[in-house]
Amino acid sequence: YYVINEVVVKRLGHLPIYKGDFHLLPPKVQRFVAEKAELMRPRGIYICDGTEHESEEIVDKLVERGMLSPLKAYHNNYICRTDPKDVARVESKTWMVTNDKYDTVCRTAEGVEPLMGHWMSPNDLSTELDSRFPGCMAGRIMYVIPFSMGPVGGPLSKIGVQLTDSNYVVLSMRIMTRVTHEVFDVLGNSDFTRCIHSVGLPRPVKQRVINHWPCNPDRVLIAHRPPEREIWSFGSGYGGNSLLGKKCFALRIASNIAKDEGWMAEHMLIMGVTRPCGQEHFIAAAFPSACGKTNLAMLEPTLPGWKVRCVGDDIAWMKFSKEDGRLYAINPEAGFFGVAPGTSKKTNPMAVATFQANSIFTNVAETADGEYYWEGLEDEVKDKSYHPNSRFAAPARQCPIIHPKWEDPQGVPIDAIIFGGRRPAGVPLVFETNSWLHGIYTGACLKSETTAAAEHKGKSVMHDPMAMRPFMGYNFGKYLQHWIDLEQPGRIMPKIYHVNWFRKSAEGKFLWPGYGENIRVIDWIIKRLDGVEGIGKETAIGTVPTPESLNLDGLDGVKLDELMSVPKEYWAEDAVEVKNFLTTQVGEDLPAPIRNEMEQQEKRINDM
Ligand code: GDP
Ligand code: PGA
Ligand code: MN
Repeated sequence: YYVINEVVVKRLGHLPIYKGDFHLLPPKVQRFVAEKAELMRPRGIYICDGTEHESEEIVDKLVERGMLSPLKAYHNNYICRTDPKDVARVESKTWMVTNDKYDTVCRTAEGVEPLMGHWMSPNDLSTELDSRFPGCMAGRIMYVIPFSMGPVGGPLSKIGVQLTDSNYVVLSMRIMTRVTHEVFDVLGNSDFTRCIHSVGLPRPVKQRVINHWPCNPDRVLIAHRPPEREIWSFGSGYGGNSLLGKKCFALRIASNIAKDEGWMAEHMLIMGVTRPCGQEHFIAAAFPSACGKTNLAMLEPTLPGWKVRCVGDDIAWMKFSKEDGRLYAINPEAGFFGVAPGTSKKTNPMAVATFQANSIFTNVAETADGEYYWEGLEDEVKDKSYHPNSRFAAPARQCPIIHPKWEDPQGVPIDAIIFGGRRPAGVPLVFETNSWLHGIYTGACLKSETTAAAEHKGKSVMHDPMAMRPFMGYNFGKYLQHWIDLEQPGRIMPKIYHVNWFRKSAEGKFLWPGYGENIRVIDWIIKRLDGVEGIGKETAIGTVPTPESLNLDGLDGVKLDELMSVPKEYWAEDAVEVKNFLTTQVGEDLPAPIRNEMEQQEKRINDM
């Protein structure tokens, strides 16, 4: 037991503790909880322990209230509908707060709004917080969620404590992170990432609550203070805005910690691929939101004898080992928060198997038989009342092909890094970059069609460097420099690739079948890693497969020439656009070696 000091006692006042023992919290956590309770004035405190029993208790309460309803066709699956104004990440209201603006954003050209990083001054943040958080939990319970990102106590793992007045968040955090009191034992009196979340609707509620989903869309604010390791989120219950362990902590805050400590926090899936000969390789891949990470991580190979096992589907924390010089990756999460539409037994059978029980579905449709439904699930259209960004949250351990090492605290050794996005034109199915530096440059030039994962309207190709644009925790030029600095003698640098499953024909049809067939691309990548000769053709942007080198056995009608071509006209235009982007957006923060890669590539394109 820890002793509660007088200040804490005073701040807590006579607030009831509905569950848990305040004395069992480490002193820094006690102070954090008491201070924030004093600010947000909930009617009581509930310290979560992450047990099944706790989850059942909360589920029952929410079902009674009508916020959750059981999907009767499955065991312990629930559906939930949000306020239609609260369905995706809100990038325009997501901020990084640092004293020096240029710790967050690049020195962009005059008059150019930074696309990467969204800066707010500490003073402005104070004003924003003061107008939202005082009393914001009135009449509600404040849940205290202790969680670990990564296996509890692991060398790459980190601890956070989230306060929230949303029970939906409590249930989802239990799926997505490791919620347990063991976290407090590991923590002792060290620091942790402080996560403060409120739906922003104190009681008595003045607005009409739609779908039993309290939120405050007009007042949304998601702010990060990297030096203080602190996250403030107000007004939204949507996963990417409210499950603060995920994008907020594991990417925006963690990328800052990673820069300081010499490791990487990236928006990447991690997969283990075993070839028919029995040899396994680990691959990490960065695609923007809703561009295929979850699908690739759980791919069911169409080539006989191949096996894919999933380590993670969204975020990778990676560090070079001092012993063998290889890059080791862990998945800091414990669950999948996946895009529902397009997920089916045909496209991603392993995801479907994962969410047969103990999962939460948000904004999907429900059939008369108590089943979930969305576009692309079956051939027959049953119901249209799902949102394009509807999601499932499912425990990773339920995935039939979860890798036996997925919770190995040391992580798995990465041989290759893949970048990719939705590129309807010009970009070949796959190419290998020429070096670590050229790989960084290629990642910096990543673009994709926008998707429903954020508030962008319509489809347009947008820059999303390293698939990190919405998740950049600090100055993008410094981030590139950090990647450059990672290459050191004695380290085995992963090879870097670029893929594009989304190239379209003149008729607007996908040129590549994708999904399980993507194993054919992985096959080529692994052959390249092995040094197999005669399978690559150098082009201005990197090495593409020779026509015979891609295994197309049993696959008809692939227009390989169209799929693999590197059209000069397209790339010449792209070179101008990219140069403009990097010069105006990253400006003088652009590291010289990357500028050099850009100039070299432009030259190669002009010489085509
Ligand atoms: P994530 O948000 O990056 O994890 O993306 P998901 O794996 O959830 O996929 C997002 C959407 O892209 C879903 O609708 C998928 O069905 C679709 N998708 C994923 N992989 C492929 C692919 O190889 N080809 C095509 N055409 N669509 C894909
Ligand atoms: P994802 O992002 O599409 O990369 O899984 C989840 C989110 O919208 O926060
Ligand atoms: Mn995903």
